[in-house]
Parts: sequence; structure tokens; C-alpha cells
Amino acid sequence: MNRTLFQFFWRALRPYGWFALLGMLLTIPVGALDAAIAAFLRPCIDGAIARQNIAFAANVPLLIVLFTSVQGVCIYFSSYLNAWVGNRITFDTKKQLIRRLLFRSSAYFDGTDSGQVLLRFSTDASTACSGFILNARFFLTRLFSSLSLVIVLLYNSWWLASIAVAFVAIAFYPLRFVRRKMKNLVGINQTSGAAETVFCNECCVGNRTVAAYNLQGQLEKQHGELMGKMFRLSLRMARHSSWPSPAMHLIVSVGLAGVLGLGSYLVTAGLMSSGSFVAFVAALLLLYTPIKGIGANVAALQGSLLAAERVCEILQCPQQQPATDPQPLALRKGIEFRDVHFSYGPDRAVLRGVALSVAAGEKIGIVGHSGCGKSTLIHLLLRLYDVSAGTIAIDGRDIRQIPIGDLRQSIAIVFQDNFLFSGTLRGNILLGNPRASESELGAAVEAALLGEFVQTLPNGLDTEVGERGVLLSGGQRQRVAIARAILKNAPIIVLDEATSALDIQSEAIVRRALDNLTRDRTVFIVAHRISAVANADRILVLRDGRVAESGSHSELLATANGIYASLHGRPGEIGDQCAPTPRVH
Ligand SMILES: Nc1ncnc2c1ncn2[C@@H]1O[C@H](COP(=O)(O)OP(=O)(O)OP(=O)(O)O)[C@@H](O)[C@H]1O
Ligand SMILES: [Mg+2]
Repeated sequence: MNRTLFQFFWRALRPYGWFALLGMLLTIPVGALDAAIAAFLRPCIDGAIARQNIAFAANVPLLIVLFTSVQGVCIYFSSYLNAWVGNRITFDTKKQLIRRLLFRSSAYFDGTDSGQVLLRFSTDASTACSGFILNARFFLTRLFSSLSLVIVLLYNSWWLASIAVAFVAIAFYPLRFVRRKMKNLVGINQTSGAAETVFCNECCVGNRTVAAYNLQGQLEKQHGELMGKMFRLSLRMARHSSWPSPAMHLIVSVGLAGVLGLGSYLVTAGLMSSGSFVAFVAALLLLYTPIKGIGANVAALQGSLLAAERVCEILQCPQQQPATDPQPLALRKGIEFRDVHFSYGPDRAVLRGVALSVAAGEKIGIVGHSGCGKSTLIHLLLRLYDVSAGTIAIDGRDIRQIPIGDLRQSIAIVFQDNFLFSGTLRGNILLGNPRASESELGAAVEAALLGEFVQTLPNGLDTEVGERGVLLSGGQRQRVAIARAILKNAPIIVLDEATSALDIQSEAIVRRALDNLTRDRTVFIVAHRISAVANADRILVLRDGRVAESGSHSELLATANGIYASLHGRPGEIGDQCAPTPRVH
């Protein structure tokens, strides 16, 4: 065990130190009492049976029952205490891991599949903690059992014992070959297990696409290939892990046969009592079981240590400080993008020097071709990703210097694809402000045009929305997200295609509701439909990662050969189709 792992277990076990110690100390009598039966055979045979001492003979079985009862009680308490400690440290570790997961950057989730995340954040914690404690208990019990049986062997004949122990030591040798090989295979097996989890998850989440495109056969084939790979891997693992056990068995049997032969000779030659010989053989046979178990334990402990290594990797990653009671910023001057560059990875530059100054209270519309980086610009403002170069500043302060909780508390966003948690409509809207009163909630529901819909539901706002909100339509999900943003009451509002899933009529009404929401706020409206941005104080056109045009709706339409105008056809037509909606004040 390296230093990092030692520190991990030390920190995890420290709060429960006494219980952990007691649980482990109890393994001593549990293991040591295994030798009681073998130890009593010699006095029983030599003293009682050979010398016809019936009273002593009657006491020996009673003593065996007594010791076995004590062992049973110790086993119970040792199992209970170790299960308690194992589960405690598992839950503590899971709490730390989930905090790391919640504060992971978007880039982490972009680059890691969900199966790996599930494996690391759920299974690994149990394997590392409960698994370690369980296997440590078995290991220690078997170790003390082996030691006590070796003492019985030595007591009855030290030189026969030396031969037997030498054979047992040789029997362990095959495990050396297996260990390293298994380490690699276990790693590959876990990756395949994670791929299977991702596959099943995608079958569930994407069930409509599967049905609509008749993908069942193709997916079954893919699954079959994955299973085939896992089957071959399992066989490889079985090939490597199956041979040490019979090899150990063979080596121990050769030792046992030799010892039996030698022991028989010693008894017949009068150099060893028959009681000693019987006790010796019994101890040797009993020794075989824990010794065999120790091999399996070492492998399982190794699995736990590997899982603990992976857990440590996550725990050692630098973490954003969790925000306690984040407060929105009082936006006074404005927001500035200074020569902002960004790429998602090497050779994937999306923004190439965006320069933009937004005054407090200004409404900015952002348009541009699909994929030109509009959402990316918003993600940078939220610090879902950090700029590759340049600065984004709020009131002259670099957003990287602002506590991230306060920054995000200052921005209410309606995403392009809004995520709803399983639970009720009420729960999902209140995420915007868990402390909102019932009347504030009602006002937000009305403002987001959800009121009529909610009234048609038998359980109203307490209706379940299903996993990811699947029980709602796209437009309803979008309005839930709008209500959530309204409740947040933040100084900066970001609408990234916030009304794209609404019909034209509903969009016009929601837009008026949004006009109310956005009054006196600093607003970014990302949209494809000109009607959504036409009311903005200023509209930016993004192209080639830069701001290519900037101005009001009418200014941009009037620009000869302008991108804004050309994006949507001839200026005259756009003006007719997309006249700014009157503002509601
Ligand atoms: N997480 C990501 N990892 C890698 N590349 C990404 C990621 N998200 C977006 N991109 C790429 O960055 C570019 C800009 O994406 P972005 O979502 O900002 O576009 P957009 O202007 O909002 O488009 P749309 O109008 O279709 O919403 C696209 O080429 C896209 O493929
Ligand atoms: Mg987008």
C-alpha cells in the first residue's frame, strides 16, 4: 500500500478508530480458536483414551463446545462492527465523491462517459471501503487461524512442522505470477462494464429514436459484440485465476503426503506419540482452508486497493470551493468581453477574439449561423468553461476572481435544451429560488404562461414530470425553465433560444412576459428568429468567432450587404415578417 492509499484509509478510519480497532482485534480470537479442536486432540488421545481416563475424556468435548461458542460470539460482533465501520466509511467517501462530481467542470463531463462516472462514483467507493474492511477482516481471521494452527504444529513436532510450513510457503508462489496479470485484466473488465452501462442507459434515454429508426437489430448486434468481448475477457481472467488454486492444492498435497509418511514412521518407531500425530495431522488439514482463503483474499484486497487508487485520483483533483449562501452581484457598470478566445480542444477554435462591452441594463441580441459559437459565449460567461485567452469582466472584475457561486447566482439562464429533474413541476420551478413564497411561485407560473396548463392537471403543480421531464412537451419544459429563471430574480438574464420550442402565437405572449422579466436587467438573447431579438437595444452578429456586425435591428437591416440582413432574406421582407413587438411596460 503506497503513502496516498495509507493516508486515504487513515483519514477515512480515524473518526471510527475505536470501533475499527475492536472489530479487527476480535479477529484474533476468531482465528486463533480455530486451532482449539486440533490442540485438544493430543491430550484427548494420549491422556484420556490411551490411559483410559474417562473423566478427562468427557471434559475435552465440553471444552471444545465452550471455545467454539466463544468463537461464535466473537464472529458475530466482529462481523457487525466491521460492517458498521465499512458502511460508514463508504458513505463518507461517497459524500466526498458526489461533492467532487457536482463541482466538476463541463469539460470533464464532455470527455468522460456516464458509465465511467457511475463506476467511479458509485461502485468504486463500496469496493474500496466496505470491500477493504470485509477482506481485511477475512484476511486477519485467516492469518490468525493459520498462525495458531502453525503453533499447534510446532508444539507437536517442530521439525515435521518446518517441512509442512515450507510446503505451504511454496504453495503461495504461483500467486505471484497471477497478481500483475489480473491487475491489467481487472482494469479492462471494468472499462467494458462501464461501456455496457452506457449502452443500457442510451437504450433507455434514446428509446424513441431506437423505435423510430428501427434500430433494435443494429443495437442488439452491437450489444452482442460487446458481450462477446466481455465473455472472452472473462475466460482470460478465469484462465489466469483458475490455475493457482489446483497448483497450490497439489503442492500442499505433496507436503501432506510426505508428512503423513514421515509421521507414521515416527509413531511406529516410538519417536512421536499417536496423540501428537493425530493433532498434527488435524492441524495441518485445518491449516489448508485458511491458507487457501488467504490467496483469494489477497486478490480481493488488491481489487479494493485498485478501487481506492481510483477514488484517490478523484479526491486529489483540485476542487472549486462549494458556495455557501451565494449572493448575486450588484451589477453597476456592465459586462466586458475583452479579446476572448476559446477552443474546446486543440484545433477546435470557436471564438477568435470576441470584443464586446455591455452596459448594465442593456439588452443584447446575439445571432449567427448554427454552430458559430453563440451558446459557447454564454457558457463562458457562466464559467462552465474558462476562456482560452482574453478576459470576461463584470464591473471591471475578471469573472475568474469572483466567487463562482456569486457569479452564477447573478445569472438566470434559460438553456437551449433545458434539463428537468425527476420530481414535481413545483420542485423544478422552485430550483430557481427554493425560498420563494407560494404567491411568488404563482406569479412566475403565470408569467411563464404555464397557468392554463397547470390548471388542466389533476395534481396541479404537484404533478410528476418524469425522468428528465419526459412527461412534458418540449414547449412545456421550456416554459418550466422560464418560470425557474423568473423566480431566480437575477440581475443578468440569458435566454439561449428560450422560446424556440413555442408556436409563433405563444412565443409572442411569452416574449412579452420575458419583456417584463427583463426590464431593468442586463439581458443576452440568443436566437435564430429575428422576432426574438428585434427588440434588443443592440444586436451582434457572430461570424468566424468574432463579432462581425453590431447595431439595432433597424440599423442592421439598413446596412447594405450586411450579414444580418442577408441571413434572413431581403431587408423589406424581414421588416414585414419580424416587426419588433411593442414592449409591455
Ligand atoms: N462540448 C463541446 N465540445 C466540443 N465541441 C463543442 C462542444 N460544444 C459545442 N461544440 C462545438 O463548438 C461550436 C459552437 O457551438 P455552439 O453550441 O456555441 O454553437 P451555437 O452558435 O450555439 O449553435 P446553435 O445555433 O446551433 O445553437 C460548434 O462547432 C460545436 O460543434
Ligand atoms: Mg446554441
